[in-house]
Amino acid sequence: DPEDSLSPRPPVVCVMGHVDHGKTSLLDAIRKTQVTADEAGGITQHIGAYVVKANDQRITFLDTPGHEAFTAMRMRGAQSTDIAILVVAADDGVMPQTVEAINHAKAAGIEIIVAVNKIDKESANVERVKQELTEYGLIAEDWGGSTIFCPVSAHTREGLDNLLDMILLTADMLELKANKNRLARGLVIEARLDKGRGPVATLLVQKGTLKVGDHIAIGEVSGRVRAMLDHKQRRLKEATPSTPVEIIGLNGVPNSGDIFLATKSEKEAREITDAFKTRGKENLILDTKR
Ligand code: GTP
Ligand code: NA
Ligand code: MG
Repeated sequence: DPEDSLSPRPPVVCVMGHVDHGKTSLLDAIRKTQVTADEAGGITQHIGAYVVKANDQRITFLDTPGHEAFTAMRMRGAQSTDIAILVVAADDGVMPQTVEAINHAKAAGIEIIVAVNKIDKESANVERVKQELTEYGLIAEDWGGSTIFCPVSAHTREGLDNLLDMILLTADMLELKANKNRLARGLVIEARLDKGRGPVATLLVQKGTLKVGDHIAIGEVSGRVRAMLDHKQRRLKEATPSTPVEIIGLNGVPNSGDIFLATKSEKEAREITDAFKTRGKENLILDTKR
């Protein structure tokens, strides 16, 4: 039955770590963009979703904030991904949100790759970072463990190719698969009310294919996908598993972290939102058939 067939899907990777250790800079360097330059106070305050191509393979990255105020976002980031890149600045070492990120990744049961960043700095000390992380069960291969450590510099680009290779290697071992021949299901990465466009939601498709025109239910919110944009703001007709997309056409702003379900009809979407209102979130999350 083709509806049950699983096909390979790209890895979804969340970038986590202490504030200012260089998560966004690393992603900027990988993507050759300058998101950091536009951030208020140089602090990331939301989850950014990007798709990168390396060795002809796609990787979906979620950038997360390192500031202590954003615990919930880091937790959601870890829960919606396959691999965590733990960014630790080589001159600063393990800090409180480094530890918090490790705990989120462990709780979510995802692989951790350590990126020791800022190795261009004179005060960089990669071995010290390795030593500090042994306390948290992350033991480098050359220290007798099995955790992949990638020394990198977002500024000089040193080590970036190796980091991408290690992500692809780890993803290969995970044999990530999803069924794309079904109605889509996934997560709300973030959502907001746009002055001109109304409610706008960034979704991560986890199963199935989301199409323009699909009916959709997200918590108490429902609607129909009127338009879909990819991470480069290009119009898309369809989004397959592991693809982040921005959609419009919802009758409200959904909560970040909520599950979205595409449905066959408007009636079915309404039934789900009604069930959500009366029975609450837990019942629907446990409904794995969808
Ligand atoms: P939050 O999202 O706010 O937690 O910060 P972040 O982890 O995304 O760090 P960000 O990319 O904003 O970088 C913080 C500072 O570190 C900036 O001033 C960057 O220019 C600097 N930085 C990042 N990567 C490197 C690096 O490889 N080398 C050096 N020398 N500085 C870096
Ligand atoms: Na920052
Ligand atoms: Mg950032």
